Amino acid sequence: MSTRPRRPAPATPAPGKVSLPDLIAQKATGIPIVMITAYDAPSGQVAAEAGVDVILVGDSAAMTVLGHDSTMPITVDEMIVLTAATTRGSSRAERAPLVVADLPFMSFQPSDRDAILAAGRFVKEAGADAVKVEGAGPTLSRMRAITGAGIPVMGHLGLTPQSATALGGFRAQGRTAETALQLVDEAIAVESAGAFALVLECVPAEIAAAITERVQIPTIGIGAGNATDGQVLVWHDLLGIGAGTSPRFVERYANLHLASLEAIEHYVRDVRTRAFPAERHTYAISDAELVAFQSGLGIAER
Ligand code: KIV
Repeated sequence: MSTRPRRPAPATPAPGKVSLPDLIAQKATGIPIVMITAYDAPSGQVAAEAGVDVILVGDSAAMTVLGHDSTMPITVDEMIVLTAATTRGSSRAERAPLVVADLPFMSFQPSDRDAILAAGRFVKEAGADAVKVEGAGPTLSRMRAITGAGIPVMGHLGLTPQSATALGGFRAQGRTAETALQLVDEAIAVESAGAFALVLECVPAEIAAAITERVQIPTIGIGAGNATDGQVLVWHDLLGIGAGTSPRFVERYANLHLASLEAIEHYVRDVRTRAFPAERHTYAISDAELVAFQSGLGIAER
């Protein structure tokens, strides 16, 4: 008989809206939380239909959707449009995931008041259920302010792309005892500041596991090993959209870049050779109307 611990059987999720208590319960039962980034209505709908628990409208949209080189340039207005589209799409499913919107760079850093106002816009104008903010330190005060205004907040530690320059680039964090211990302290501080969940990005698996054991809130990893309470991947990475290489923590479940390229090349060929549109794509006019039309144009009947 196997002595290996049994994995919990996946629960059949109840229809309705995923709630914060649902996520806390998943930590307790050990059923991994599935989070994905999505940025528009169709992807929100697909994510919801596939059974994802949480959709993050990440500021990674700056890079994946808007073509910037970093997450910094995206604005609150741009994020609001993407978040509103995503909530519209995801709410059509029988089980609607929790939708979390990233507060973009400089929307929350200046002051607690800015943080509350930005977070409030995502809830009021875009239908988000919660917001995510990066970092600890001064961010803790912003978290307390936002949760104090009644808006749930998700934390984000490890590689925090909004401070990538200060962190020395897009690189794993917590790889020395000193920085790993600091991450543990920050995670506990983020929990104390009222966060309902915590993203851990690019952190050694052992450090993420130690943090997961020491906080009551669910941890959601990306490049943080398999012991976190959940996982998140970016839509475009997971589906292989966009040319180029992926970070080592990405699993590509499809190659939609290639599939799209082949489909569009096919379309280009069909248009150039007049294979498209075919008769089934066109609308008919009766012979009598056509004759009348032609005589109206002064074209003689052939
Ligand atoms: O913006 C984003 O997509 C994120 C995830 C990578 C966690 O913050």
